[in-house]
Amino acid sequence: MELSILTFCYLIASVTFILGLKMLSNPATARKGNLVAAAGMTIAIIGTIFLYEEEGVKLGNYGWIFGGIAIGAIVGTLAAKKVKMTAMPEMVSMFNGMGGACAALISIVEFNHLVHEADGDLSSHIPTLLIILLGLIIGSVSFAGSMIAWGKLNGKIKDIVFPGQHLLNIGLLLVILALAVYLMGWAPANPSVIFYAIFAISILYGVFFVMPIGGADMPVVISLLNSFTGVAAACGGFLYDNKVMLTGGILVGAAGTLLTILMCKAMNRSLTNVLIGSFGGGHKEAGPAGAKQQGSVKEISLSDTAVVMAYASKVYIVPGYGLAVAQAQHACHELEKLLEAKGVEVKYAIHPVAGRMPGHMNVLLAEADVPYDKLQEMEHANEEFAATDVVLILGANDVVNPAAKTDPSSPIYGMPILDVELAKNVIVNKRSMKPGYAGIENDLFFRPKTSMLFGDAKKVLQDLIAEIKNL
Ligand code: TAP
Repeated sequence: MELSILTFCYLIASVTFILGLKMLSNPATARKGNLVAAAGMTIAIIGTIFLYEEEGVKLGNYGWIFGGIAIGAIVGTLAAKKVKMTAMPEMVSMFNGMGGACAALISIVEFNHLVHEADGDLSSHIPTLLIILLGLIIGSVSFAGSMIAWGKLNGKIKDIVFPGQHLLNIGLLLVILALAVYLMGWAPANPSVIFYAIFAISILYGVFFVMPIGGADMPVVISLLNSFTGVAAACGGFLYDNKVMLTGGILVGAAGTLLTILMCKAMNRSLTNVLIGSFGGGHKEAGPAGAKQQGSVKEISLSDTAVVMAYASKVYIVPGYGLAVAQAQHACHELEKLLEAKGVEVKYAIHPVAGRMPGHMNVLLAEADVPYDKLQEMEHANEEFAATDVVLILGANDVVNPAAKTDPSSPIYGMPILDVELAKNVIVNKRSMKPGYAGIENDLFFRPKTSMLFGDAKKVLQDLIAEIKNL
């Protein structure tokens, strides 16, 4: 009876994971989707703790279990409350690393069980051993890689690139595979030594795998490591014959893989290029003082900007990474409401890789209660720019860089961009002429239709609002 209730709990949990994931794909339902999936996970955990039994024996160890849950819940809640939106990728990386570590620990525990059960002779347990090794290798790589990604994103770890690094990585991977095959096929006298050697080299591989990747490519790598963790967790599901762990792991693995592919596509880069390209790393093409000079830029004053915008009939706002840095989303929404009150139609053009994480701009603007229907995807916005009076670019750079279309030598060549130049006027707000993530100059700033409005996005928006109110 209890077993069937537990199976039912797992079924509910699996369904809520799928529903939650589906709801996460739309900003309007994303928050609810998260709660739905979390509720399903709670049901699965509580069900397992109280209903699971093996040969009539329940789990027990309630002190340890609830102690662990309490510590994890407190740390997780505090970390999530404290984290700044721009530091989100590094927190995701840290949490993902913990998932990978859990999967590796499960493999270590189960390996020791297996050795004990088989009395040292593992040859009749090859399928189980294979799953244990997969969980160990993938989980360890995901843990070590995520920790390096976390360190790089918060600036504690610098990019380290040395000659022959990729060959070393391939060598480490081959050693891991060779040891795993040896452990499964040749029944070594001391299997534990080989097993822990695989563990240690996998950790090393995780470190060296992420080390050379350009700092700013970390979100793509984190998404890839996220899918690794999912697969490692699915291995745990296989080991314990636990359907919900298997479903959850496979969903995370598949979603992480799809997200990685989508991010690469949106940047028009192959995964190989992300993994070995050192793109967005320490060496930028333009110097710190800014982009290579290629003519003069035209500046616009706040009062002129206020007039141009207040008397426009259609305005598009292009948010970018700088808007998140300035935390200017509330001021931005205020400007939008003010303009709408004056009869101006205002919309937002959202580039799929604007900012530093998937959906960054959607989350940022949702925080300021910008209505979802004002957010237009790139393709749609590109169709509407020709009928737009003013495009106001707030802290965006690469996603509006025409070099992506015109300069085959540019690292962003081929990346789809927002065709803001189709509009009648383009006003760009940023603090200086410094480049964005790709480290390259932006010809848009020198084009005749473009005017620069220098300053921190939040301050500029606040002053602009005051100017428009005074008109
Ligand atoms: P970026 O090209 O990085 O440009 C951001 C601009 O914001 C900078 O040029 C900076 O210029 C300006 N800025 C910074 N702080 C500011 C502030 N306080 N006020 C006003 N402006 C400020 O950003 P983007 O256009 O959003 O493009 C995103 C880039 O990140 C793309 O190249 C994309 O491929 C990459 N990327 C995205 C993701 C995801 S998933 N979103 C993942 C990895 C990489 P100043 O310093 O002169 O102010």
